[in-house]
Formats: sequence, C-alpha cells, structure tokens
Amino acid sequence: MTSERIRSLLSEMTLAEKIGQMCQVQPHGRDQDDQVRAGLIGSLINVVGPDAYHYQALAVEHSRLGIPLLLGRDVIHGFNTIFPIPLGQAASFDPAAVREAAALSAIEAGMACVNWTFSPMIDISRDPRWGRIAESFGEDPLLTALMGQAMIDGYQSQSIAACAKHFVGYGAAEGGRDYSTAMIPSRELHDIYLRPFKHAAQAGVMSFMTAFNEVDGLPCSGNPALTRDLLKTAWGYDGMVVSDWNSITEMIAHGVCANTEEAAERGVAAGVDMEMASRSYFDHLEGLVATGRVKEADINDAVLRILHMKERLGLFERPYGPERQHPGRNHSMTQARNLARKSCVLLSNNDTLPLGGGIHSVALIGPLADAGKDMLGCWVFDADHTLNHSVLSGLRTKLGDRRVIYRPGLPDPRSMDGAMIEDAVMAANSADVVVLCLGEDEGLSGEAHCRAHLELPGRQMELLQRVAACGKPVVTIVFAGRPLLLAEVIEKSSAVLMAWHPGSMAGVAITDILFGEPPTGRLPVSLPRSTGQIPIYYNHKNTGRPPAPDAPSIPSGTPLDPSGFFSTYLDEDHRPLLPFGYGLSYTSFACEGLRLTTETLTEADDLEAEITVTNTGSRTGSELVQLYVRDLVGSVTRPVRELKAFKRVLLAPGESAKLSFSIPVADLAFHAADGTFKVEPGRFQIWLGPDASKGETAWFEVVPSPTNPSGKSGKAKV
Ligand code: GLC
Repeated sequence: MTSERIRSLLSEMTLAEKIGQMCQVQPHGRDQDDQVRAGLIGSLINVVGPDAYHYQALAVEHSRLGIPLLLGRDVIHGFNTIFPIPLGQAASFDPAAVREAAALSAIEAGMACVNWTFSPMIDISRDPRWGRIAESFGEDPLLTALMGQAMIDGYQSQSIAACAKHFVGYGAAEGGRDYSTAMIPSRELHDIYLRPFKHAAQAGVMSFMTAFNEVDGLPCSGNPALTRDLLKTAWGYDGMVVSDWNSITEMIAHGVCANTEEAAERGVAAGVDMEMASRSYFDHLEGLVATGRVKEADINDAVLRILHMKERLGLFERPYGPERQHPGRNHSMTQARNLARKSCVLLSNNDTLPLGGGIHSVALIGPLADAGKDMLGCWVFDADHTLNHSVLSGLRTKLGDRRVIYRPGLPDPRSMDGAMIEDAVMAANSADVVVLCLGEDEGLSGEAHCRAHLELPGRQMELLQRVAACGKPVVTIVFAGRPLLLAEVIEKSSAVLMAWHPGSMAGVAITDILFGEPPTGRLPVSLPRSTGQIPIYYNHKNTGRPPAPDAPSIPSGTPLDPSGFFSTYLDEDHRPLLPFGYGLSYTSFACEGLRLTTETLTEADDLEAEITVTNTGSRTGSELVQLYVRDLVGSVTRPVRELKAFKRVLLAPGESAKLSFSIPVADLAFHAADGTFKVEPGRFQIWLGPDASKGETAWFEVVPSPTNPSGKSGKAKV
C-alpha cells in the first residue's frame, strides 16, 4: 500500500508532526497559519478558492517537510453547477449520468483548490422522516452501491478524493430522528447496510467517514470491530478513515468515554485515522503515546494511510491539483438539465401530459413556482445562483410572458396565511391549464432537518383543493427532499410529477417534460400512504402471517373488522402508495415472454433471463425493466424481493425489443444461519417487470455444485 517515499517521509516526522496529519480543522480566515506552517495540521475543511491556495502554499512551501494538505468540502450534488439531490439522481437509475455529474462537480471543485469531497453518502434509507434521505440513494442496496460507485469514479477520475459515508447504519436512526440510535441485527447490517460500503471499498474509494450514530451500543467512531476488523482487515481496505464532525468527542455524550482523552484513545484504537473538527487527537495523543495507552505503531498506520491518500491524489507533485479545463457553461448546464429531467418521476397522468399545442395560457401557481434557490435542495455551499432556473423562468422562456399567469398562492411553502389563495383561484379560472408547484423548500430536508409529519407543509393542500375545484386540468409538480404523503395530491390532480429538488436547471428540465420529453425516472424509495406505515420498503420479510395478495385496501381512518389474522392494519392499507421502481412514461409498455436459459444452476453459473418489451402506446418512451429475485427457502428468512439488475430500453410506438439479463448466481449469496456468506441451494423465484410490485415471473433451482457442495462463497462474517 505504501511507497518508499512516504515510508521515508514518516521516518523523518516528529510525533507532533505525525499527530498533526491526523487532524482536520475548519479555519476562520487565516487563523490556522501558524499551525499549518508548523506542520501540525494534515487537512482543512471548508476552505475554497484563495484561502485554500493560501493554506496549501503555506504547507507546501513553508512547513519543515512540505507535506500538502487535504482540502475537504461537501460537494454532495454539485459545486457551482447543482445537479439533483442524490435521491433524485438515484431516481434516474442512470449510473453513467451520475458519474458524469460527479466528474463535472470535481472539475469545478478542483478549480477552487478542493481535493477531497465528503461524498457519496451511501446510507440505506427506509425512513422519509429522516432529513438526510435527501442525500441518500434510497432503500435498495444494489441501486445505492451502483450510484455510490458512479460518484466515486466520477470524482476520483478528476483527482478529487471521494469519501464513502456514513459508516454505518446512519439511515436506520430510530424514529427517523437524526443522530438517533440504530438497532441493526448483524445479518441485516451485513446484507443490507454494509453492502454499498463494501462495494465502495472494492471500487477504490480513497476514504471512509464514520457515522455519528451507535449501532447496538457502539458508536461508529469508536468501534474497532467495524473499522479495524471488518473494513481494514477483513475487507483489506488501504484507504483512510475520517470521523464525522466532532463524532470522536461525541462519544462522551454517547456515554462510552468519560473525557476527551478517552475519546482520543478510543478513536485511534478503533482505527479512525483522522479527527474532523474536534481536537482530542491534537490535545491528547502525544501524552497517550508517552504513557503507552496509544501505540505509536497505530499512529504510524494512520499517518501512512493519510500520506498514501495524498500520494494517490498526486498532491506531492501537484499540490494545487492538475490542470483542469471546465467544459464550458453550456455543457454543464446541458448536463444538469439532462440529469434533472432523468430524475423526475411521473406518478400519475390522466391524459393531461404532455401539454399539447392547444394550450394557450398556463396558470403557474404555488410557493415553489418561482423558487430557484429552493430547487437546489440541501447541502449546497458554492452554487452559482445566476444559473438557477425556476419553473417560472422555464415556462416563460417556453411560452412567453403573456401566456404564463403566475400566482404564488401562498407567501412561502410553509405559510399558514391563505390571503393569496383567492387570487390564485382566479388565475386558475382564467387559464387553459394549471401547473401547481408544491412541496418542501430546501430548508425542510438535510442534516438535522427531520419531520414527523409528511403532509405538504403549511396550507398547500388547501391551495391544491381550491385550485382543483376550478375544474381545469391541474398538473402538480412536487418538490421535496423526501417522499411525502401524496395520496390526496394524486387524487385531486390531473397529473403529478415528483421532481425532488432538481438543481440549477430545474425549470428548464420540468418544462421539457411538460411539453413532451418523456419522463423516465423511477422511485428509489417506496412512497408511504401514511406516516404510520413507516418504515416501509419493498425488500421486506414475508413474516409468518403475510397479508393475502388481494387483501382489501382499507380506506384509512375507517377501522373495519379485522380481515383475518394477518400482518395488516385496521385503518390503513399495508402496501405503499407507490412501490420502489415505479414511474410512468408518456406511453405504455408490455413485458412478456420471460424465459430462463436454464432452470437448474449451481452457484458457479450465471442466471440468464430474457424478456420482450413492447411499446404499446402512441409515443416514444423508455422502460426500465427491473430484475428481482426471491430465495424461497433459506436457513434464515429472506426478503420477498431483491433487486438484482435493471436495464433501460427506448422504444418507438409499436416497437418491441428482447432484453437479456445475466447475473452470477453468486450474487444471491447472503449471511446464512451459520454466519457464512453463501448461496444456499434451493428454489428461487424471479420477476422481470416495471417495478417491485409486479412483473413476469418464473422459478429456478440452485443445486450444490460438485466442487463446492456447501455453497460457501465467503469467510464467516466478522
Ligand atoms: C456533517 C455531516 C457530514 C459532512 C461533515 C462535514 O455533520 O454529517 O456528512 O460531510 O459534517 O461537513
């Protein structure tokens, strides 16, 4: 892992300089000049542009050993050009587009002397109350792993280090409350929450970040079983581990450390190589080494990992980064527009969209219709706001000012002041069609922005009801950093488009879709009917008393007699409002003729399936065919479905195409009852279809292979 150069550099370093490399500090102005010049800081956070160049020059040209700094920034879904929030990017099911966006973001960040981004966030998120679901890729491990890898490749292709975070289980915070306790049994931890992280490690991500939360009593920034034994030893990870902000000293609040000295000791013992923000390493490690409570060998390992990361980034040769060429604003805006369009999910459409030539005037209504900044979503620090495109600007560019009658309807998205609703209703009555922009402003999601109620904020539902009562077609566009409760929105609207927070080019991308570009997004999370259903996700277990497939959909709020003793509610349907993978287009498709190459396989084989997809509608469109599998009988209970592959196909009206899938049977491995990671022989069911709730189905058998009768394909979990 480590070159002769950095080994020799380590041998020249004093203990104080070694400890300095393990410290990441947020400067205020030039207040860290002396520390940097003395070689007592390895990384700075949240400095960009001139300040970043200043500090890097100090480190490289004025410190004793000239070791360059890691300069970290949260480039989560864009830098100057803002792309959709990661949850929206996941809805594109297009890793290549996500990779491109990350690469552009890296170029823009690198041109501001940033060389490390704290992204991708690959926490599995099943709870929309949690504000950080916005930053996640949703509920599925495969989609999250592929999207995480796409971002890692994109950033690192431009010499910006990526960071897989938050390791691990942060999305399982109880109650959807940020930083809350995560109780995740080991099998679930390994087969669901750790999967994207293992994928990221195998993809060569240069760093990991430990999470704030505890898992089963152990804070993730002080758990050697996680970061030393699993990540660094079992997975053979040679990158660097940074704590999250103050998460080392927060082990005092967690109640596992009595003071900052113990926190520093526990962090190093756990294999956390660098401390972000808090100063326990800086304050205590020299003394802890002197008393033998911390081994200098552990310090050396941490420093070598940090120096290795700097070397991989080429910082010793090019401390200010490689020559970078921005592809130009037109290119970046086109990229942002395309990914924003791909992120939008059409949830319902009563033949209203696309808006046709007969439309003369549009009443554009809603507190998010002219909200360019809110379109950017959470975790945006360096946006070029001159690029912001609201829906108002998009529609006016398309139709001209005179044909767009704009009324906000409410003073702001959270307002309870209905004084402007009447004016909006009048506008609706005067136009041919209404485009209604509702949902969350950017401040209602992100870190420490959790919600216990997932209805539309403020009096937005009343605005929708009043506008819908006018009898004109109403196209509702929902902006949000999370799934919201949309049953009534869908019922009252002629069409509903879920746009998440689509970024700089929101208005143009949405106008494209309204006037004909077929929507292609698919849900990366299940949409709940009510908050009481949460957590609700597609890859759940069957239980001993699953609801009958045709169990009645119980109208919520009207408790009925129990319909038998099944895992259902008295007052709510047990199914999501809309399932993972769901999304409409402007045409319709049929998926038929599922065929398996063979129905008996060993774990050394590939499962090969094909299906014919036909565009049965009148417009060109693309279908995302998803492949799900279920292990019908295991040594432990298994999810009722697991996404194993997906493919997109673009078809003209009436056109058909045969799609072939090939997945290694080894991909069906899981942690069995005896703790080994393996494929268990037995019967499996496969679906190929448009979302997690339906599709063509077939069955296949996995039989023991002569060479590996037990099916074991991996070491027992640590
Ligand atoms: C925050 C977040 C983390 C972020 C870091 C630096 O608290 O948890 O995701 O990268 O601090 O801003």
